[in-house]
Amino acid sequence: MADFKSDLIKRTEEVEKIIYERLPKEEGWQKNLIEAMNYSVTAGGKRLRPMLLQETARLFGYEGEDVPPFMVAIEIIHTYSLVHDDLPAIDNDDYRRGKPTTHKKYGHATGILAGDGLLNYAYEICSEAIVKSVCPDRAAKALMVLSKKAGIYGMVGGQTVDVEYTDKPMPPEVLQFVHELKTGALIQAAMMAGAFLAGAKEDEIEKIEKIALMTGLAFQIQDDILDVTSTTEVLGKPVFSDKKNNKTTYVTILGLEGARQKVKEYSDSAVALLNELNYKNKFLQDLLISLIHREK
Ligand code: IPE
Ligand code: IPE
Ligand code: MG
Ligand code: MG
Ligand code: MG
Repeated sequence: MADFKSDLIKRTEEVEKIIYERLPKEEGWQKNLIEAMNYSVTAGGKRLRPMLLQETARLFGYEGEDVPPFMVAIEIIHTYSLVHDDLPAIDNDDYRRGKPTTHKKYGHATGILAGDGLLNYAYEICSEAIVKSVCPDRAAKALMVLSKKAGIYGMVGGQTVDVEYTDKPMPPEVLQFVHELKTGALIQAAMMAGAFLAGAKEDEIEKIEKIALMTGLAFQIQDDILDVTSTTEVLGKPVFSDKKNNKTTYVTILGLEGARQKVKEYSDSAVALLNELNYKNKFLQDLLISLIHREK
């Protein structure tokens, strides 16, 4: 595991380099907005989704030039989802990635527009990558899954139901739906886009979709656990945010131990499914396992 930890640091740096190189230039009359967009992206974060995209492409033996732009796009879409999630009308949180949230630093209007700007910039990067790609049909499929899983059948769909149930009890089946969409979907988008770019076969894509769903569920339940067990210093975002907003989570339904058990079950399923594929990527496997005990 010591090897994995140093590998993870190295690969996170490589992912960050890919992202930083492709951020929009802070110039023109809209400079303040672009600064706000870059502020949220460069604030930090684990870079899990671009890493999953890249490692899933690698799983199928692919390292093509259209991978980096899609890595940037998924991280930018994820970052926009956080910028909007923190807004006063949604979770109303003041810290993110160890810094004041975008709306706290730049004001509400710029917070909203920075999210809009990030989302559109992501699609700009992807469509440009399709035009330049040597396999444009594969890259187009990657964009298709990205846009579907980010939208009403994915992250946005999950967030809206999450918001609708603020301050009222959420039945367990609705919580499952919310977790699948608000968090599972972008993890699916990351891994499936990597698989599409690599030209994976239909049955392989279906398996990746399941692996990513299990990973996403484990990830969100661990997020709910850390909300009540960690500290703002470690997480870089406020703890007890769910309690403040009267949210139903796996912790409120199952208790801490029950929630921990679920994280382990979903992670184990993800790894078991990964091992059923005819391809191997040891780092990807270690990455999925490491998420069970993640502390931030
Ligand atoms: C936070 O995602 C939002 C959830 C879906 C739980 P991350 O925990 O991946 O946040 P960063 O990217 O590391 O900041
Ligand atoms: C949000 O879930 C998932 C998103 C789509 C942004 P949370 O509201 O629990 O995420 P955090 O805890 O603020 O990162
Ligand atoms: Mg939220
Ligand atoms: Mg939140
Ligand atoms: Mg949370």
